[in-house]
Amino acid sequence: MTAPDKRRRPRRDILITSALPYANGPIHIGHLVEYIQTDIWARFQKLRGHDCWYVCADDAHGTPIMLKARAEGITPEALIARVAEEHKADFADFRIGFDNYHSTHSDENRYCATLIYARNRDKGHITARNIHQAYDPVEQMFLPDRFIKGECPKCGAADQYGDNCEACGASYSPAELKNPKSVVSGAVPEQRESEHLFFRLADFEPMLREWTRGGGLQEQVANKLDEWFEAGLKEWDISRDAPYFGFEIPDHPGKFFYVWLDAPIGYMASFKQLCESERGRAAGLDFDAFWGQDSTAELYHFIGKDIIYFHALFWPAMLHGADFRTPTAVFAHGFLTVDGQKMSKSRGTFIKARTYLDHLNPEYLRYYFAAKLGPGVDDIDLSLDDFQARVNADLVGKVVNIASRTAGFITKRFGGRLGVELPEPGLFHEFAAAGEGIAEAYERREFSRAVREIMALADRANQYIDERAPWVVAKQDGRDAELQGICTQGLNLFRLLIGWLKPILPGTAEAAEQFMQIEPLAWDALSQPLLDHEVAKFKPLMTRVEPKHIEAVLEASKEDLAAAQAQTAGQPAAGQGGDTTSGAGHVARDPIADTIDFDAFAKVDLRIARIARAAPVDGADKLLQLTLDLGGETRNVFAGISKAYDPAKLEGRLTVMVANLAPRKMRFGVSEGMVLAAGPGGKDIFILSPDAGAEPGMKVK
Ligand code: 2FM
Ligand code: ZN
Repeated sequence: MTAPDKRRRPRRDILITSALPYANGPIHIGHLVEYIQTDIWARFQKLRGHDCWYVCADDAHGTPIMLKARAEGITPEALIARVAEEHKADFADFRIGFDNYHSTHSDENRYCATLIYARNRDKGHITARNIHQAYDPVEQMFLPDRFIKGECPKCGAADQYGDNCEACGASYSPAELKNPKSVVSGAVPEQRESEHLFFRLADFEPMLREWTRGGGLQEQVANKLDEWFEAGLKEWDISRDAPYFGFEIPDHPGKFFYVWLDAPIGYMASFKQLCESERGRAAGLDFDAFWGQDSTAELYHFIGKDIIYFHALFWPAMLHGADFRTPTAVFAHGFLTVDGQKMSKSRGTFIKARTYLDHLNPEYLRYYFAAKLGPGVDDIDLSLDDFQARVNADLVGKVVNIASRTAGFITKRFGGRLGVELPEPGLFHEFAAAGEGIAEAYERREFSRAVREIMALADRANQYIDERAPWVVAKQDGRDAELQGICTQGLNLFRLLIGWLKPILPGTAEAAEQFMQIEPLAWDALSQPLLDHEVAKFKPLMTRVEPKHIEAVLEASKEDLAAAQAQTAGQPAAGQGGDTTSGAGHVARDPIADTIDFDAFAKVDLRIARIARAAPVDGADKLLQLTLDLGGETRNVFAGISKAYDPAKLEGRLTVMVANLAPRKMRFGVSEGMVLAAGPGGKDIFILSPDAGAEPGMKVK
C-alpha cells in the first residue's frame, strides 16, 4: 500500500466562480449545465485537499430588472430579494455548494465597482463623449436596443428587436429599424443626446494579447479573441442614464454604471463578503492574497460561450487597469439542447430547476450532465430517453447495485462487520491505481472521460461479484469467511467508485458514507481499504428514473407556461437577459406595438362565470380545477391560482372568463377556457370579480 505523496501535490489556493444569474427570472436546466459543471470541479478540488472557494451572486442591476419590478408594482429591491431566495433554494436543492452567494446590489460591490472605476479613470482609461440614443418620451427613459421593436430594415419582417432580425438574421442599429416603437410604452422613440462614459479597451491591447496567449483560454476561445483583435478593440460604454437600477457613478450624478460593469465585479464582492464573514475570518481568508497583483492564488471563471467578450476582454482589462490580478483561466461551455432542439416552452422542455426538483432527483441530472461534459465549448444535448437509460443503467444498475448485492450479507450474517482483510488485494490496488487518471480527467474538466473510466471499473466490480456469486456461497455451509471476504471486497470497490463520483453525486456519496459509517471521503484516503469495520444496515441509495416522472416534468413545465400566461395575460414573457445586445428579455408592460384591431378584440368572448366548484389538482401544485357555470352551461377550467386562493372560498364567487378559447388538453384533463386574473403571480394573483348584479353567462362589454 503506498501512502499518498503529499509533496508531489502541493496545496493550492483556488477561487472559482460561475456566471451570476440575472435576478429577474428562475433558474432553469440550461443554467444548471454551468452550475453543475463548476460545482463538480470545485468539489473535486476540495476533495483533493486544496483550499478552494466557490462563490457566486445574483446579477441584480439593469433595465429589465427595473421594468419587471415596475410591472409587478414593487421596488427593484423587493424583486431581487424575492428572486435571490428562489435562486438560493434552487441551487441548494441541486447541491450546488457555493461557499458564498451574494448580490451585485451590495455594499461590497458598490465599493469594489467604485474603486475599479476610479483607478481606471485616474489612469486615463475612461473618456466621456456625447452619443445619440433612442429615447422613450412617454416613459422618459433611454431605451436599450432590445426595448425597441419595429420592422427589419433588410427583410421587412414585423416585430423585430432593435439589434437584429430573428427572421433574416440581419444585424443593424435601432435607428435603422422601420416604424420603431418602444416596448415599454409603445411610443415612437426619439433620438436624444446624452453624455456617456467609455472604457478605453484599446489601451489594453498589448496586455490582453499576452494574457490571451497565456494558456488561460480554450483554443476555440483564443481563436475567437484573435478575430476580435483583428476587428479592433472598441471603446465600451459603461454608463447609463437615469432611470436605471444600479450604482450611481460618484463623479457623475444621474449616471449609473452599466449592469455589465459591476456584474463581474460581483465575483470580487461575493468573495469579499466571504473573507469578512465569521467563516472567512476563521479560515484566515485574505482578500488581497486572492485579488492582489502578486497573488499566487488561482482564479477561475466558468461562463457560457455567449459572454466570452465580457470575461476575456473587458474583465481582465478592467482588473489590470485597477491594479488587480487577472484570471488564471476562463472556462466557457456550450448551450443546452433538449432532445436535439432549443428548450421550448410549448414542448415543455423549458424546464425550471424547481419543476425538475418537484419530480426528479437532482443527482440524476448532475450525473447526466457530467457524463456529457467535456472541456470544450460544444453544446450538450439532454436526450430524455438517454437520460433515463443512462441513469438507470449506470447509477442504479451498476454502481449502487454493487452495494445492494453485498451489503445485505454483511448485515445479516456478520453483524454488519467487514472482514479483516481483502481476499483480492491486487484487484483493490488495481482499482485504486486508476484514481490518478480519474483525477487528471476531472482536473482537465474532462468529466465525460472520468465517468467513462469510473463506469468501466463499476463493470469490473460487478463482474467480480458475478464470478464469486455470493448468493450461492451464502447457501453453502462452511463458507462464511469466503462470503464475508467477497462482500468486503465488493463494498471496498464500491467505496472507491463512490469516492470518485463524489464531486458529481454529493448526495449519494453522503448517504453512502452514512451507510459505511465513515468520515467524509477524501481523495487521498480512498486507497486505504476499509476493513474490520461495522457498516450500517443498507438502504437503497437511489431509485430508478421512471418515464412517468419525466412526463410529469414535461407536463408541469407546460403547466408553468399556462400559469404564466394566465398570470401575465398581455405581458411579454420575462426574459433572462440584461440590457445587452444578446439574450435580453423584455419584461415590460404590454407594448402597443402588439395592438390588435377591434375585430380581433371582438372575437374574444368574455363572459361572467360563477365558480360552481374549485378543487386542487393532484400532482399540479399551481393549478386549481374550476367548474364554471355560464348560466346553463358548465366549463372545466384549470387555472394557475392555487397559491393565491383557498378553493373552498372561491366557490360561489363570480369572475370573468374567456369563453371561446380553444380547448387545451392537459395531463389532468381538458381546459375549456381561461379565467382572467391580474398580478405578478404566486400568492399575488387576483381573479377579476364583477360587481353585484352581474349574472353568470352575461357577455362582458
Ligand atoms: O449573462 C448573464 O446571465 C449575466 N447575468 C452573467 C453575468 S456574469 C458576471 F459577469 F457577472
Ligand atoms: Zn430581417
